[in-house]
Amino acid sequence: MSQALSTAAFETFATLLKSRSGLVIGTDKLYLLETRLAPILKREQLRDLAALAGRLRMPGNDALVRQVVEAMTTNESFFFRDDKPFQHFRNQALPRLLASRPAGAALRIWSAASSSGQEAYSVAMIISDCQQSVGSRRIEIIGTDLARAQVGRARDGLYTQFEVQRGLPVQMLMRHFRKEGSGWRISEAIRGMVQFREWNLLGDLRALGQFDVVFCRNVLIYFDQPTKARVLSAIAQQMPGDGLLYLGGAETVLGITSRFAPLATERGAYGLALPAGRPRFIAETQKVP
Ligand SMILES: C[S@@+](CC[C@H](N)C(=O)[O-])C[C@H]1O[C@@H](n2cnc3c(N)ncnc32)[C@H](O)[C@@H]1O
Repeated sequence: MSQALSTAAFETFATLLKSRSGLVIGTDKLYLLETRLAPILKREQLRDLAALAGRLRMPGNDALVRQVVEAMTTNESFFFRDDKPFQHFRNQALPRLLASRPAGAALRIWSAASSSGQEAYSVAMIISDCQQSVGSRRIEIIGTDLARAQVGRARDGLYTQFEVQRGLPVQMLMRHFRKEGSGWRISEAIRGMVQFREWNLLGDLRALGQFDVVFCRNVLIYFDQPTKARVLSAIAQQMPGDGLLYLGGAETVLGITSRFAPLATERGAYGLALPAGRPRFIAETQKVP
């Protein structure tokens, strides 16, 4: 089938995906279109990708467009992914933010491509485990994702045995989950700490409000440079001067935007940049005893 897909049909998919989700695909990713869109072809009783491309070009196909865009997203996630950012959040960011904010001010944390929820719930489990230092402080954790099915899964908080075995320490599993059938359901207490919403990072982010900490991990890798720069700049608008951004292990702001500067002490963590190019997060929080 690969050889048979015309350039025009391929371009239909490439243009649609880039404009709707930011995803950039080259012709070397044809196999991804084939494998991920096969269930849609079957459901819609379409002969091949060319027929689907034809259907997508017709007006009034919003539901089908959404299905295609969602099917092409990569939703892999796991609890405490890469561990280090979460340790940094627990040991550095959280204590500093708690100390530097007035007692009545809520701390807001955003998992900006939350997929099936593991990232946002990892943050919630940390907060729950740090309850003594958090005290009565209000903490809002928001998870957003473009993919409706993933937002649904995240809200459900039900994970397979395989998913809870990836990155989640066994004590956390025992403390915050209960067995349900062959899977594990996250506790009501942790679930109640997180709100999940459908949101496209390419859209207007202003209605989400300001966030002290943003986890935007393993999503920018799918975008081209101008889109990365645009999204990072929009995220910067949603952060106070001393806010903190965590990117994925294969992602960086270097060469993409000067809005953020890397923290010297932690790979993958960034503060909004001072004019001198230093991250303001450190400069501000060093004043905290
Ligand atoms: C690989 S997962 C990353 C999940 C999590 N952040 C992590 O690091 O484990 C990427 C997620 O980004 C979402 N995504 C892709 N493009 C998006 C966009 N334009 N706006 C919001 N979410 C998007 C996908 O639906 C997918 O769930």
